[in-house]
Amino acid sequence: MAPSTKNSVILGEALASEEVNLVFPTEDFSRQAHVSSIQKYGEKYGRSVEDPAGFWSDIASEFYWKQKWGQPVYTENLDIRKGKINIEWFKGGKTNICYNCLDRNIKGGNGDKIAIYWEGNEPGHDASLTYNQLLARVCQLANYLKDIGVGKGDPVIIYLPMLMELPIAMLACARIGAIHSVVFAGFSAESIAQRIMDCKPKVVITCNAVRRGPKTIFLKDIVDAALIESAQNGINIDVCLTFENESALKKEMTKWVEGRDIWWQDVVPKYPVTCEVEWVDAEDPLFLLYTSGSTGKPKGVFHTTGGYMVYTATTFKYAFDYKPKDIYWCTADCGWITGHSYVTYGPLLNGATNVVFEGVPNYPDAGRCWDIVDKYKVSIFYTAPTLVRSLMREGDEYVTRYSRKSLRVLGSVGEPINPSAWRWFSNVVGDGRCPISDTWWQTETGGFMITPLPGAWPQKPGSATLPFFGVQPVIVDEKGVELEGECSGYLCVKSSWPSAFRTLYGDHERYQTTYFSAFPGYYFTGDGCNRDKDGYYWLTGRVDDVINVSGHRIGTAEVESALVSHPQCVEAAVVGVEHEVKGQGIYAFVTLAEGVPYSEELRKSLIKVVREKIGAFAAPDKIHWAPGLPKTRSGKIMRRILRKIASKSLDELGDTSTLADPSVVDQLIALADC
Ligand code: WT7
Repeated sequence: MAPSTKNSVILGEALASEEVNLVFPTEDFSRQAHVSSIQKYGEKYGRSVEDPAGFWSDIASEFYWKQKWGQPVYTENLDIRKGKINIEWFKGGKTNICYNCLDRNIKGGNGDKIAIYWEGNEPGHDASLTYNQLLARVCQLANYLKDIGVGKGDPVIIYLPMLMELPIAMLACARIGAIHSVVFAGFSAESIAQRIMDCKPKVVITCNAVRRGPKTIFLKDIVDAALIESAQNGINIDVCLTFENESALKKEMTKWVEGRDIWWQDVVPKYPVTCEVEWVDAEDPLFLLYTSGSTGKPKGVFHTTGGYMVYTATTFKYAFDYKPKDIYWCTADCGWITGHSYVTYGPLLNGATNVVFEGVPNYPDAGRCWDIVDKYKVSIFYTAPTLVRSLMREGDEYVTRYSRKSLRVLGSVGEPINPSAWRWFSNVVGDGRCPISDTWWQTETGGFMITPLPGAWPQKPGSATLPFFGVQPVIVDEKGVELEGECSGYLCVKSSWPSAFRTLYGDHERYQTTYFSAFPGYYFTGDGCNRDKDGYYWLTGRVDDVINVSGHRIGTAEVESALVSHPQCVEAAVVGVEHEVKGQGIYAFVTLAEGVPYSEELRKSLIKVVREKIGAFAAPDKIHWAPGLPKTRSGKIMRRILRKIASKSLDELGDTSTLADPSVVDQLIALADC
């Protein structure tokens, strides 16, 4: 049963009794909102699930299609028992997402509107591009890429920080039908190499260095090491297009491989500022984005063009109540899905003015975000709970020093936002005036799935509230039985939505087993979830071997395999543990080779190996020496016990009698503070 129709009735009755937990939008906000009441949402939602084809094709018609899609509007099989999992939207339709972001908005009169305000790491270092200028820059790069032989369907790896060149590179790929795969510029050489070996790109786009706060990071050196490693594995990259990020590092100081490395500034500006569009099928690939799963190998999440375009644009418009005069800033990096859908595509599809920030929120001090908000008159500010918590610790003074009166909508993403951070965000940052859109979604979903529509219904701090149009969440028990009403279980989705990922690159089998086999008939999200009596959804975190550190998804198996690559480590088990700022911290139990003594030096070198294999953001917060690990008689590590030891919940260890050797638990407890 669709939750909306139930909700609209239940909400009206139940809300009054619970007023303490409810935060109502102001009347003024609701009056001007795209969706001004729960009843209006209910009507639209009802149609979206009863007639998805009609609902989404009406919205899709607002975009430019070189050729209209065929019939049916979508086909789906989400039931593994009925055969191959298959999702297609708007198939047969020919379009181009870059054209829809830029040319279409320019034709609509937005050519001179600012598309991107760029704010550098240092205050005062900034730039901007109008839609016309952005199109010109995108076309020059697109022409260059075509000239070196990149064409439709060719993967391109982009390893760039938050320079304007990052969205430019994504859009240039999209314009010529190439598949971009952005690798977050915090990943290590090995991680880049792994991705290069998986998707075999024609070209790698990077820059020489970046400054993040007081630090300089030499990105080109990292790419050089990655290219050596991939070459050793038989994948040679002919062109490494390198942008000179002058304020971080001068050209002359950059290490260079003649014949392979090309300065962006030497070639790209010479190309024409117009470039013909490659019209692609709605189901042609737009991008690959690697994300962590419960095994060591990252998954290439594969997104296609048409449905992704329609859905990211629509969710952006409604979840942020976007209006043409808004100035929007999302603090996420384009190296993650949030930056794809809600820095590059969603905002530009709506013709929005977008702030792109190179630096970090606490440099030069903890007031930087609010300085930027005031400078550009940001009205929609979208960030992650970890940033909220870290700034909250610095005290209100850094916030209240700035006016922030331009703000009208706040957003949160990446992990459940704890109610105290929610209230601080709302009361201190938003002066009690701004609704918060706590958007639940995933790399795999492409766009928001469960999110408030600000103005339409009251919020409860910590709940992502209700499903977006067309999304049918269900909560199932461990047997896969759908639960009704107030309940708690595993979050699944029972029908497709336009921006769902279509496969894992090169591994449809893994796609099917990871996401569609646990609970046949449904897409399984990997998240636990409660639904309350008002039909609100409360995400409770991952239920698989994935941990969420500062909103970054890290597979425990990846960290473990990095640790065991250390010559003195024979076994490792990694669990997530509550962390005040990061949400979850990485806690690693490490067994050393026979006779190797524990030492501070060894601890550091274990952490270093993780930084080198994955990236600094995956470095363990704690190494716990483990002479042995708690295993069942069949050899399976009992992580439940490790989680309890890590969180010091020793009275909750539960039954340890099924362990092959129960005495390891006492040994671990004895070593807790070593
Ligand atoms: C996982 C997806 C979606 C962009 C950022 C992360 C968690 C994300 C929320 C939220 C509770 C959230 C889930 C999800 N998550 N947003 N608003 N409330 N949990 O993308 O790396 O694909 O991670 O992040 O656990 O499964 P991702």
